[in-house]
Amino acid sequence: MDNATVIVVGSGGREHALCLSLAASPRVSSLHCVPGNAGTAKMATNHACDMSNEPLLDLFREIKADLVVVGPEAPLCEGLADACQSAGIACFGPVAALAHLEGSKLHAKLAMQSAGVPTAAFQRLDATSDIDAALDAYAGQPWVVKRDVLAGGKGVVVTSDRNEAKQFIITSIGSDGFVLLEAFLPGEEASMLVVMDGTGFHTLPPSQDHKRAYDGDRGPNTGGMGAYCPAPVITEQVHERVLKRIVEPMHRHLSDQPVPYRGVLFIGLMIDASGDPFVVEFNVRFGDPECQVTLPLVETDMFDLLHGAATDGLSELSLNIRQGTALTVVLASEGYPSAPVKGRPIRGLEQALETAVYGKTWVNLAGVGVDESGQYIATGGRVLSCSALGVDVKRTKSEAYRLLSEIHLEGAHFRTDIAHRAMQ
Ligand code: AMP
Ligand code: GLY
Repeated sequence: MDNATVIVVGSGGREHALCLSLAASPRVSSLHCVPGNAGTAKMATNHACDMSNEPLLDLFREIKADLVVVGPEAPLCEGLADACQSAGIACFGPVAALAHLEGSKLHAKLAMQSAGVPTAAFQRLDATSDIDAALDAYAGQPWVVKRDVLAGGKGVVVTSDRNEAKQFIITSIGSDGFVLLEAFLPGEEASMLVVMDGTGFHTLPPSQDHKRAYDGDRGPNTGGMGAYCPAPVITEQVHERVLKRIVEPMHRHLSDQPVPYRGVLFIGLMIDASGDPFVVEFNVRFGDPECQVTLPLVETDMFDLLHGAATDGLSELSLNIRQGTALTVVLASEGYPSAPVKGRPIRGLEQALETAVYGKTWVNLAGVGVDESGQYIATGGRVLSCSALGVDVKRTKSEAYRLLSEIHLEGAHFRTDIAHRAMQ
């Protein structure tokens, strides 16, 4: 398809990354974002809209969207893809019944069991369960407790403090009715993004996020403080195991459904010391910030890839990946993740955006707005990330950090050790 009209749903750094790569496609003549942010405004028309299905569908019809690309999980769990399907609009992102792979950890565990996919053993605990006996059963390693709700990264506690684990179990059962206690998986984490539809799938190069707030993987969990791609922990042999043991059975399971999975499956992996992969979680969307470092390595036209998946055309598409490494480092507001300070001016961003070149060194905006005087201000916890693409990790990292040094936000913090596992 040529002269396509595409709309991206969402407002974070991931959606800016999607817009940057779609804007580079000669197939796309009209690019929109809802609600978007100050970054997407540079190459797309942002729309303010009530984010429920009906008003969104009205907008998609009004702009005559040929393709809707849904960034975050919440609209998918709310059935936005189902609504698009009923309206005959191509949508990248799965229907609600399949989005529950992310919306419900229990659902994901049961899907993995039925597909024979390796993951941590677990118990479902409710008001009738013997919590002490369950904690005893998993003693000796940290306890992993997971709520069965979309909790924006706050639904999981991994702790060696038995009391903390027990309290989280009790409060979660109180609010949700039940909770999952799962076995701790030792190893190294990696993220695998698999674009799939009813006809086939393509695995994108594996990446690694940095979820803890501070250097050395210390401090509180965050949405992600930086990422790089590809991640060397996924060797060719590990990749083969991930394909055979996880991706192929999950694709068989997901393409066997009344409506096949059309979108990207994010597989959060733990690779143990023997190189055996286990699934930690599934997400039904691109990771943020994994998206920012994965899409720039995709040489295949981004519209062809996303539209192909939305219309069951993947089996006819070949995927080409660029050589090199992409890396991004997140600049976070003071107080992030617990209580980010918002409203402060961001100096040097205007200049950084002007000199940036997508695919070399560039900025992904997330929590950035513009005040009445036209000044960029921080509006969120994760404010922006500086990204680079280069031949090796070391030089790519120094390019991304050089760009970051030109941008100033009072009180902000960032990690200085992105990609440390690739440098050892
Ligand atoms: P999740 O929301 O399920 O991805 O969990 C958040 C984070 O908790 C993961 O990225 C891991 O770092 C950690 N985690 C979750 N489950 C486990 C597990 N079974 N073993 C070890 N770490 C885990
Ligand atoms: N960066 C992890 C996620 O998007 O869930």
